[in-house]
Amino acid sequence: MKPPGRPLHFEYRTDADTNGGGMAADVRRGLQSDPKRLPSKYFYDARGSDLFEQICAQPEYYLTRVELGILRRHGPDLARAIGERAMLVEYGSGSGVKTRLLLEALIDPVAYVPVEISASALKQSVEQLAARFDQVQMLPLCADFNTRVALPTPRREPRSVLIFFPGSTLGNFEQTEALQLLRVMHDEMGAQGAALIGIDLKKDPAVLEAAYNDAAGVTAAFTLNLLSRLNRELGADFDLSQFVHRARYNAQAGRIETHIVSRVDQQVRLQQARIEFAACEKMLVEYSCKYSLPEFDAMASRAGLQVTRTWTDDDQRFALLLLRRGAGPASTA
Ligand code: TRP
Repeated sequence: MKPPGRPLHFEYRTDADTNGGGMAADVRRGLQSDPKRLPSKYFYDARGSDLFEQICAQPEYYLTRVELGILRRHGPDLARAIGERAMLVEYGSGSGVKTRLLLEALIDPVAYVPVEISASALKQSVEQLAARFDQVQMLPLCADFNTRVALPTPRREPRSVLIFFPGSTLGNFEQTEALQLLRVMHDEMGAQGAALIGIDLKKDPAVLEAAYNDAAGVTAAFTLNLLSRLNRELGADFDLSQFVHRARYNAQAGRIETHIVSRVDQQVRLQQARIEFAACEKMLVEYSCKYSLPEFDAMASRAGLQVTRTWTDDDQRFALLLLRRGAGPASTA
């Protein structure tokens, strides 16, 4: 429900590439490749976004709780390190809880620019934040944050751009894509800017695997919802009872690998194509990379960025890192 009071005024820009045409082509390409894969950015339809919120509340899924704890505990310190009058740019808008905590901590932020592929998630989070922060101009951007977007110009001039990328979402990209995304951030943040990135740290594989295989089965419902979406939006005929969710830690690669596995030999229709699945054949749907702090430093420096501050929880489960453009050998951290 729209909160009473000030009328909402959004500069709503839409990126045409985020709609169905792109999805059909992406899915067909993924299912016709060997091994098969499905692009995880399509998880987040309305039901997917809702299930994801439920994942974040599962007892095994510590990531969200720990990251929120770090934001609460170190808010003032974070805000001092970032500096006043920032324009906050967020890649993905999520539920807005982390954003609210960050906006509450920041010193006189001028604008909030969520860059989000799901129009419904974008609208919801921005409406709630607009009601709460009337000094912060809301400039939502419905777009895929993997592509370079032109940032809007807010009414009040910002001192710097702060790119916020929480949730260990960077870990959902393969090395080269993650590096590419860091380079996009490097370019978008400008000389005075920074990025605040949440990453999940390496730990006992049993703890990691439990986080992606919650006992209530919410994560399984979340991954399989992707197939329902393909049925509904692309006219595919996946039989959901014939596929299962599986998430395993690959220690060598340092990541959770989430697959959808076919229970039996079967055929699925996708528009004009017929896709064959062998029994036990797996489709890759997501990587969730886990990092050590030195590994992350090394990756950031390859994108011309430097980790200038690190905040973690007492058990070193998760970290929030502040990155700035590398200042060369004589830099002061
Ligand atoms: N960024 C989240 C993560 O990697 C996304 C996520 C949580 C996820 N659970 C998932 C993605 C299950 C796919 C499947 O932890």
